[in-house]
Amino acid sequence: MTQWTLGIIGGSGLYELDGLANIRREATTTPWGEPSDLLTFGELHGVPLVFLPRHGQGHRLPPSNIPYRANIAALKQAGCTDILSISACGSLREDLPPGHFVMVDQYVDRTEGRERSFFGPGCVAHVPMAKPVCSRLSRLAAEAGMAAGIALTPRGTYLAMEGPQFSTRAESELYRQWGMDVIGMTNMPEARLAREAELPYASIAMVTDYDCWRDDTHSVDVALVLEVMRANTVKAKRLLDGLTATLAGQTRVPGPDGIEAVLDSAIITPPG
Ligand code: ADE
Repeated sequence: MTQWTLGIIGGSGLYELDGLANIRREATTTPWGEPSDLLTFGELHGVPLVFLPRHGQGHRLPPSNIPYRANIAALKQAGCTDILSISACGSLREDLPPGHFVMVDQYVDRTEGRERSFFGPGCVAHVPMAKPVCSRLSRLAAEAGMAAGIALTPRGTYLAMEGPQFSTRAESELYRQWGMDVIGMTNMPEARLAREAELPYASIAMVTDYDCWRDDTHSVDVALVLEVMRANTVKAKRLLDGLTATLAGQTRVPGPDGIEAVLDSAIITPPG
């Protein structure tokens, strides 16, 4: 595989990418059902992109009902080599204010009841998740963001919560004590499934609010998230522009983390 084909999963406030060349939209289905929306194929700086809004057009799918397996399968079927997740998040740290970007490098998963594996009875696999994101894609995205003048932290732990309600104050304070950096509702099980699909995954978490742990700040609500997301989305597009400009000049070789071949040593059920 010598060319990058970047799958982009857009979150709240990011329902389409403009400025793409050779755009075409395609409905698709997978053995795990239909993805959240049509796939948009296009190119930026000559790099093929496949865009998918995870909540669907018009934001109709709540985090618990996103077809995570179908989304990852659809991007895999579309020929994506890597996935970049873009999502809104709350901040659990003073020094990560609204407008700040965090390249997630770790997760604590508190989601419940979501389909989180392509494997199951009949074919059992245990993929490693110690390093849940692709270090190469994450670094390239961080470099593109910083070059674009975006305030960005190159690592951070994301607490994935079930929602759809935001956290209670006690939960928010607990997550801070646990050392979590940001909180959101959608990166899990997405990151797990990308790993099982042997797709390097990186996540840009864009801070929209301070959740509800501060005395001196309005607690998170949807209006606040959407207002900050408008500016964050413009910045995310700048980052993407820089990232694809970099990728355009590179031949893609397998990444340093062995993700593209992770199933070679993960399936425990004998064949046949
Ligand atoms: N998405 C944006 N802000 C959030 C928050 N505070 N909690 C969970 N998900 C979010």
